[in-house]
Amino acid sequence: MKTIKDLNAKDKTILIRVDYNVPVKDGKVTNDLRIRASLPTINYLLEHGAKRLILISHLGRPEGKLTPETTLQPVVDSLQKIFKEQTIGFYHLPNSEKPIPIPDNVKIAVLENLRTNPGEEKNDQTFIENIVKATGADFYVQDGFAVTHRAHASTDAIKNVLPVYAGLLIEKEIANLEKVIENPEKPLLVIIGGAKVEDKQPLIDKFLKVADHIFVGGKIASEGFKSDNSKITIATDFDENSAGEKLDIGPLSTSELANLITDAKTIIWNGLLGYAEDPAYATASTITAELIGEKENATTVICGGDTTGFVENLMKEHKNLNYTLVSTGGGAALEFLLGKKMPGLEAISK
Ligand code: 3PG
Repeated sequence: MKTIKDLNAKDKTILIRVDYNVPVKDGKVTNDLRIRASLPTINYLLEHGAKRLILISHLGRPEGKLTPETTLQPVVDSLQKIFKEQTIGFYHLPNSEKPIPIPDNVKIAVLENLRTNPGEEKNDQTFIENIVKATGADFYVQDGFAVTHRAHASTDAIKNVLPVYAGLLIEKEIANLEKVIENPEKPLLVIIGGAKVEDKQPLIDKFLKVADHIFVGGKIASEGFKSDNSKITIATDFDENSAGEKLDIGPLSTSELANLITDAKTIIWNGLLGYAEDPAYATASTITAELIGEKENATTVICGGDTTGFVENLMKEHKNLNYTLVSTGGGAALEFLLGKKMPGLEAISK
């Protein structure tokens, strides 16, 4: 895979596909993990003399419509706070090859939400070709790991327009996810939570081949997930509300999981263990996140949108927590782990 380390960025205009599909409330970004995760690539290219970086991303599923809810403006505001010394430019998506008039002092520019033009999801080559020509891009960098499972214009058709280089985030995500599947230091513990069995069963099946232990908690366990495989431990006790709903795994199961975490050298965690939106039922997930984040000399990977959001929030309060990878790829990380076809990764030049 070609990465940005293979290109000469000096005086070049570089188009970077990032995934800034971040949660927004009242016009403000509420979790900027994906924005911060894009900074190593941006900084690397600036340090290597790039003339200008143009960032492109989708936000939500606006079905071709630009509205106050679907604009990338909140993301631009977040970037402006990070790059205080720079003017972050913000421009409409081009409808033709006509150059976008970007002033010389703008070194970082963002284009409006890609999915506000139907061409993006239709994988329309002309749409991405217009972006390349209107911005005068010399190179294309794919760093939106979280969207590489989609065959869209900015992930797939682009390969027919410009050579595609991987950014540092893609490199980091792939290196760590590959390591846990292909060459994990043993024992490998996989912790599965969340709500839908049908989403998690393929992951359990896949990891049965490589994992030493799989722990199953969350709603899947409380709704009666069963297995007679000796590698699989399923939570057996639960914290209930007054209506008898099982909303968190209980102390016995949590302590069983704690022992597995202590022994493991590689841990992958996907899916919360209880209804952690309510602090009363976040106990098992909190203990798990802390035990994993305090481990030394272990490879620890957190994936899935809810789990990474939860861990990120905890990290803000507890600065001592550290993980090898808090994956930015929600669905994409799971598809990657399952070995599915990833058009956005296949499009990266070899
Ligand atoms: C995500 O958040 O998983 C990615 O940004 C992809 O978004 P999508 O599921 O709307 O394609």
